[in-house]
Amino acid sequence: MTGNRRTLQISPIRNGTVIDHITAGEAFNVLRILGITGTTHEILSIATNVASGKAGKKDIVKIENRELCKEEVDRIALIAPNATINIIRDYLVFDKKGVEIPDVLYGVIRCPNPGCITNTNEPVRSRFEVTAKGLHCTYCEWYLTEDIAGHII
Ligand code: CTP
Ligand code: ZN
Repeated sequence: MTGNRRTLQISPIRNGTVIDHITAGEAFNVLRILGITGTTHEILSIATNVASGKAGKKDIVKIENRELCKEEVDRIALIAPNATINIIRDYLVFDKKGVEIPDVLYGVIRCPNPGCITNTNEPVRSRFEVTAKGLHCTYCEWYLTEDIAGHII
């Protein structure tokens, strides 16, 4: 890899996952979704607000020796709809996929309405439809339009 004063580069990884084209500023929310905290032991590289031809700026998260499950990728899609998930094996990009926001989210979003049945002790998993007006709670009709990252379970 080459670098110069104008390009910042983080090292390639041998095996694992590169989450690229993350919406600038969302890298730490991606880490939260993946359960990565200061006390976990993943080998991790993070770049934030790096130049990106397409979007202007982007974040990148590289995690060694880990592949993501669908539930994790669906949550990432909500906060970084342009992200690409690159599976790296022996330094090569083995697979590259975009992310897609599902039409319905089960057990993904905590309803902001304290009176919603999903916030009681009833064993009801949250269910939100993805609509043009926001994320719509099937149980209490609430529309979540702001701070989606903060409501991801
Ligand atoms: N990457 C890495 N380690 C490797 C191989 C790739 O960290 N051993 C990273 C690259 O730095 C890049 C991402 O994985 O951030 C995808 O790699 P690649 O497809 O080679 O890059 P681009 O062609 O730039 O990807 P795109 O077209 O998705 O922008
Ligand atoms: Zn609700």
